Amino acid sequence: MSESSEAASGGVWTRRRFFEQLMAVGGVSLAMAGMDALGFGFASAQTAPPSMPGGAKGTKVVILGAGLAGLTSAYELIKAGYSVQVLEARGFAGGRAQTARKGFEDTDLMGHRQVCEFDEGQYINIGPWRIPYHHQSTLHYVKEFKVPVELFNNDNDASYVYFEKGKGPLAGKPIRKGQIAADARGYTAELMAKVASKGDLDAALSPADRETFLAYLVNEGRLSRSDLSYKGTDGRGFDILPGAGVDPGPGKESPPFAFADVLNSRAWRVLSSVAGWDQQRTMFEPVGGMDMIPKGFVKALPPDAITYNASVERIMQNAKGVKVAYTDAAGKKVEVSGDYLICTIPLSVLKNIQMDASKPFIEAMNGVSYSAVNKIGLQMKTRFWEEKHWIYGGHVYNDIPGIGTISLPSTGWHSQKGVLLGYYAFGGEAAKISALSPADRAKFAVAQGQKIFPEYAENFETAFSKSWHLDGFNLGGWAEWGDEGRKTAYPVLCEPDGRIYLAGEHLSYLTGWQAGAIESAWQQIGKLHARVQQA
Ligand code: ALA
Repeated sequence: MSESSEAASGGVWTRRRFFEQLMAVGGVSLAMAGMDALGFGFASAQTAPPSMPGGAKGTKVVILGAGLAGLTSAYELIKAGYSVQVLEARGFAGGRAQTARKGFEDTDLMGHRQVCEFDEGQYINIGPWRIPYHHQSTLHYVKEFKVPVELFNNDNDASYVYFEKGKGPLAGKPIRKGQIAADARGYTAELMAKVASKGDLDAALSPADRETFLAYLVNEGRLSRSDLSYKGTDGRGFDILPGAGVDPGPGKESPPFAFADVLNSRAWRVLSSVAGWDQQRTMFEPVGGMDMIPKGFVKALPPDAITYNASVERIMQNAKGVKVAYTDAAGKKVEVSGDYLICTIPLSVLKNIQMDASKPFIEAMNGVSYSAVNKIGLQMKTRFWEEKHWIYGGHVYNDIPGIGTISLPSTGWHSQKGVLLGYYAFGGEAAKISALSPADRAKFAVAQGQKIFPEYAENFETAFSKSWHLDGFNLGGWAEWGDEGRKTAYPVLCEPDGRIYLAGEHLSYLTGWQAGAIESAWQQIGKLHARVQQA
């Protein structure tokens, strides 16, 4: 309907006119709110992709990067009728969602080339490795592509904590997390219960509330009801396990550590490990490796949707469209053009690529830093942590510089071999270790792990390490925004610059998670589609 016929029909606006008006007044965000109100659906962007009715109007979108943000954008845009071309610098899709298994290759910026020599069936997720149950955006595609998942044990009371920098008899000794947890809770509850029972909390609690509070503390700390003392609990384990008949009969509970020893060990630091929103007890992992998710996307995309080994040299745009110059696998210069661009290249890399964008947009890319992140998978010839220590998955938290976290696999229970995560470290310590050769990184990881498990070194077979800050396609593990960057640079980069839209974990408050990449892509394609509808 033309504007004059709109006027002739009594001034009733078409949807197009409505969106144009919203655009003129408040830009894309207001137009999106309008689309939401008309049922185009953005409000649930965290759990499902935006619905994008209305057709693509012959629009072509070039997407840079076939990581989770690029794959999500491509998949949803194609579904909505867009013509899409994805350029990927690597020879495979998935971005950081990489799984190292036999034959997997990696060469870092220092020239260290590794070829994974794990046995068939063994692997390590060198990028993302766990999916909190509330990352419904990631789970949306897990369901969409029928990727089988299994539980990832993100908290295990049977696992060890090892703090060598603490003081007292527990320092430098592997201790079960559950023992520290029980004792810290027990003694704290005892103290509180004794204060409460003496009436010292009368100002804060009514007599009835005080009784209930005492009952709570007795339950929380597993205190003796009679004298409100903490004497240990069977939950922390046994020196002699209970069994059948009279011998061993009820067994013998292991006595609690002294409160002072628990405090001085500093091992209580791990007790908040699953207290945050990100780190849930209930997590998932795809059976067979995290790259099953990108593989699901690739299978669902047309075979020619992704051009691999395309190294982007220049990003151009004008009022009519976008153009990208890249070098292909054979070293040939190629150009592709489209109407819009979704660029998911990490900002650490993108800021070194020539791009036609406004000065504030270009400058905003300096408002974020990227983290140094190391991981190493160690193939062990027996699963001694299960067989000898009865630890089934979970993390061995420790304060060994450069190790960070050791993690035990949540898959392959009771099989012959296993690959454990020998370190997961960030920042300066990660940078130091990454300077070593892959063989020396493995030696370091094995020597440190030996402090915790006596069986470590004799079981070690082969390693595969990854340093994300030494990967030329990433230059860091994930984006780390400071308060200032979030306030100033982040909002600039979340909006398109001309015809260029950025997407990725870096444009979310879920940095370092696949959900951040997916939800950022959902937001940006939603905006792009809104624009195409009103154009
Ligand atoms: N998302 C990252 C992890 O799970 C930080 O360790």
